[in-house]
Amino acid sequence: MGLIPRHIAIVMDGNGRWAERRGRPRAYGHVRGSSRVREITRVASESGVQTLTLYAFSSENWKRPESERAILWRLLVKHLRRERKELMQQNVQLHVIGELHRLPLDVQEEVKVSVLAMAKNTGMRLVFAVSYGSRQELVSAAHNIVQEVLGGKVQLNEVSEALMEAHLSTAFLGQTSDVDLLIRTSGEQRLSNFMLWQSAYAELLFVDECWPDFTAEHFRGVIESYGKRERRFGGLPSSQS
Ligand code: IPE
Ligand code: IPE
Ligand code: MG
Repeated sequence: MGLIPRHIAIVMDGNGRWAERRGRPRAYGHVRGSSRVREITRVASESGVQTLTLYAFSSENWKRPESERAILWRLLVKHLRRERKELMQQNVQLHVIGELHRLPLDVQEEVKVSVLAMAKNTGMRLVFAVSYGSRQELVSAAHNIVQEVLGGKVQLNEVSEALMEAHLSTAFLGQTSDVDLLIRTSGEQRLSNFMLWQSAYAELLFVDECWPDFTAEHFRGVIESYGKRERRFGGLPSSQS
């Protein structure tokens, strides 16, 4: 196997269409989608990926009907409860980014309990992006930096990329906050407000399978194909530099 991406971010898209194509309610697609998360997490962890960020709910997904949102929250809680033991065995650290305070209180509680239970683990970081929006994240970072400048804590000439990064919700990831490989399932080719800063130099991969059909096999293939890509970061191909 070639180079392994340190940070993989996935837009888990296409649950609704997957179900509709089978004449089933959208909720069924979410149930099947939720059960894919376990396998993908395991493959990432076993492959030596350091951070796996999963886009579970965007800031814009609040536009979905209350009934669909309620299903998504139930599934999140169920997933955390069901997987806690297995994640502990894999030594996975759990993190959540996004506007956690907007979630129903019992969901917030469950998230906090799970995060705390895995806080001392030292293996792969599994990050759920929940009620996450990149633009909101950037505005909030700008807001905090301006406050620090106005308060005299930071000088204007100290405002840098590193300072911005330190104010993003991914700051705790340190050197792996940059996304190496961003995958979106379901054939849609857009970012939908996900990791705009962190993906500045990410390799993008759009796959046709809807999320409930995205198997361990597909995922292993995708990780392998990443190893064959040449990342230049604005420089010349390595053969010419
Ligand atoms: C992704 O599937 C899950 C969430 C956005 C929460 P969708 O629900 O967006 O499924 P499609 O895109 O409508 O098929
Ligand atoms: C992005 O998918 C968010 C998640 C997968 C959680 P959407 O289905 O909400 O994105 P759009 O609306 O197609 O851009
Ligand atoms: Mg969608």
